[in-house]
Amino acid sequence: MQTIRGFRDILPEQISLWQRVEKEAFALFDSFGFKEIRIPVLEKTDLFARSIGETTDIVEKEMYTFPDSKGAHLTLRPEATASICRSYIQHKMYAEDPVRKFYMTGPMFRRERPQKGRYRQFYQIDAEVFGIESAYIDAQLIFLLNELFKRLGLTGLSAHVNSLGCPECRPSFQKALLDFLGERKDALCENCARRIKKNPLRILDCKVESCQRALSGAPATIDHLCPACDDHFSIVRSALKKQGVDFMVDKSLVRGLDYYTRTAWEIKTTTLGAQSAVAGGGRYDGLVKELGGPATPAIGFAIGFDRLVEVLEQLELESKRSSLDLFIVALGDAALAKGYLWSCELNQNGIRTEVDFRGKSLKSLMKRANKLNATHVLIVGENELNKNQLILRNMDTKEQSFISLDNLVSELMTSLKK
Ligand code: HAM
Repeated sequence: MQTIRGFRDILPEQISLWQRVEKEAFALFDSFGFKEIRIPVLEKTDLFARSIGETTDIVEKEMYTFPDSKGAHLTLRPEATASICRSYIQHKMYAEDPVRKFYMTGPMFRRERPQKGRYRQFYQIDAEVFGIESAYIDAQLIFLLNELFKRLGLTGLSAHVNSLGCPECRPSFQKALLDFLGERKDALCENCARRIKKNPLRILDCKVESCQRALSGAPATIDHLCPACDDHFSIVRSALKKQGVDFMVDKSLVRGLDYYTRTAWEIKTTTLGAQSAVAGGGRYDGLVKELGGPATPAIGFAIGFDRLVEVLEQLELESKRSSLDLFIVALGDAALAKGYLWSCELNQNGIRTEVDFRGKSLKSLMKRANKLNATHVLIVGENELNKNQLILRNMDTKEQSFISLDNLVSELMTSLKK
């Protein structure tokens, strides 16, 4: 039996990177006042169709949708924003306090063509903020992402930022775009020709080469902003500049989901070939109302967790990080009995410790300590117990010291605490 195409196992030897990313991300979210939310994997199809947009690639081609036994149309979530909005409205969170900040992580499902950095089940780390119209929150989310990537030691990323305007400025932009497309209709792919009437903005996101060529010199939303959107975008840019966040204004960035208004951004990498976006986000000030809630400004982003881990792996930042502080080489029954108790007590106190219970030789246990990448080894045999002198070996420096049985656990804790 094999996993299905585009689905994969993430194995124990890969997991430490995932956990480190989660730890850094959650700590950062926590300090910026975000709270974790957990949402279902399955929702009514209509929720995604209405939020992401009927004429987007995700809704038209990529969703895992099926009727349940009673005929209801259900979809495995392709993203988290729609569900978090649904939850905000369903639980009337706006009534008590309209300002809410959420984060979540979990699997998403899109039936795309699998390739490096692109899976049919993939993971996102998602953050959403409701109830804040100020442009400073836009800047703060981009700053937060930048800070997270810095803490993880990521380099070689670039932040592309754009403004998509609001319902006030869209008509002027759409007119300019339709005029432009009118002369190039024949050069567009079948999909885009169909979308001209329904959703011309989507055409700007088409990946087909002939469309990309035809779109060179197309009008940009940023040149049609109303004064309020223009001001909003200036504040975002100047805040980011003041904070020294590296970014570029990318007029051609439109994102693949329909709900966006005003600020939109993507963080790109050059290390994953065609799949260059490691994170994407933006404002969606109309969505809560569209889904039946009160008019509520909102903004958020999602990090492609799989891609982020792949970039980190390529940077080999994790390669030598140890996951074990102490390996106890216990030789003989008396040593094993003691080693067992010490290991439990050390683990209780946060020192990651293992003992091998199989009664192997010194040589093979030292090999195992190396394999597990232990930073220290404690060697205990009959001789050491009789002399009351155990050997503590630092596996990096190869230095050895003696340590007595009295207060062994507390002494080890002092020498091994990082
Ligand atoms: P998105 O751009 O569709 O935005 O996805 C966000 C990130 O998820 C992408 O930048 C990419 O890293 C990752 N991703 C997307 N599809 C795949 C895939 N098939 N395989 C691996 N990684 C993938 C959203 O989903 C929005 N909900 C983001 C958002 C939150 N906007 C506002 N709030």
